[in-house]
Amino acid sequence: MIDNHFVVPASLTGKRILLGVTGSIAAYKVAGWVREFTTRSAEVTVVMTKAAKRFVSAMTFGALSGNRVYGDMFVREPEELMAHITLSREADVLLIAPATAHTIARLACGMADDLLSAAVLAAKIPVVVCPAMNTAMYTHPATQHNIGRLCDLGYHVIPPECGELACGEEGAGRLPEWETVHEKLIALFCPQDLKGKNIVITAGPTREALDPARYLSNRSSGKMGYALARTAARRGAEVTLVSGPVNLAIPPGVETMQVTTARQMQARVLEKAESADIIVKAAAVSDFRPKNCHRQKIKKNQGISPIEVEENPDILATLGKRKDKGTMLVGFAAESSNHEAEGRRKLEQKKADLIVVNDILRPETGFDVDTNQVILVDAGGSKQLPLMSKEETANRIWDHILTL
Ligand SMILES: Cc1cc2nc3c(=O)[nH]c(=O)nc-3n(C[C@H](O)[C@H](O)[C@H](O)COP(=O)(O)O)c2cc1C
Repeated sequence: MIDNHFVVPASLTGKRILLGVTGSIAAYKVAGWVREFTTRSAEVTVVMTKAAKRFVSAMTFGALSGNRVYGDMFVREPEELMAHITLSREADVLLIAPATAHTIARLACGMADDLLSAAVLAAKIPVVVCPAMNTAMYTHPATQHNIGRLCDLGYHVIPPECGELACGEEGAGRLPEWETVHEKLIALFCPQDLKGKNIVITAGPTREALDPARYLSNRSSGKMGYALARTAARRGAEVTLVSGPVNLAIPPGVETMQVTTARQMQARVLEKAESADIIVKAAAVSDFRPKNCHRQKIKKNQGISPIEVEENPDILATLGKRKDKGTMLVGFAAESSNHEAEGRRKLEQKKADLIVVNDILRPETGFDVDTNQVILVDAGGSKQLPLMSKEETANRIWDHILTL
């Protein structure tokens, strides 16, 4: 059966962002964010405080957003007099970045003496605040108290990062990276239906050394496993990603453990399995490893000798055998023929709850591409999903897991 339904957003496409910029030295970074939003087809309208305009000109934000930039509350144009009320009505989220200590203090008190603070009070949409300031300012009890108050008021505060600050000091106070904020915004539009769930996901290939220079491995890019980790975190889960060597950015908010060999991967997964509600084995674990790993590089003039191999642990089967407390076990099967039958065989043999089968021979569903088309095989039957991006596929896998 082919299924065509899709619900969870995988991007900010079409979202309307009201961006409040305040007077921090980090304001210039947010100009780049506006560009990132618009290239993702999100609509941005910027409101600047008076101090913000001392750092970056309104023209910069106007040119990058393609929209008029707001600043003053008391303007001549009658149609803009109610902007403090109407701006948030025409947006899906209000993002304040960078948020100064001063603006945070004013929001904590519920003040409304400029356009941005009044718009925040009038907003019935999610408000996301990104503090950015010197460490002493950030850790000052007054600022910490005010941030606590913003959390109590239901605003989403993204903590600043640690690192080198514009003032030359090191510590907490750096504006979070764009990727972190982007993830947080997408998460706001996702159902939080995995909240409270502890999920362990494996991804990527493993490498089994033959000598200090060579190894046995496979073509897995890790994209599917990383998409699963990213989407689960967006939907509220606590995610641990056990990753083989891949060339991908770690999804924000995901605890990641890097491993190289199948045995290392097994050790990490078993360590985390105890507290997991769901384990998804999306990694392409090498079935075999060379029996002997040569201490020195094998020389060409030594001639070709057969590589003797031995079996690696079957992590999914090991977990299936240990399954006792209702942890849901999901495996992946990369197949080149008899897809559904192979999936069902693995489901039964490995005592899994769900097997996700994909065809490694098709160019759009094989290794290292951004799309996939999978068959979900469980005790109740099987379902083929349409060809979609790996993120959309990941969301559909979570939807299915929630029904089991
Ligand atoms: C060069 C310079 C950099 C500043 N950077 C910050 C900053 O990163 N964070 C902050 O909270 N305040 C910073 N300030 C202080 C704010 O600009 C000041 O508190 C201002 O009143 C904030 O107004 P606003 O919150 O209405 O934009 C800086 C001031 C100067 C002169």
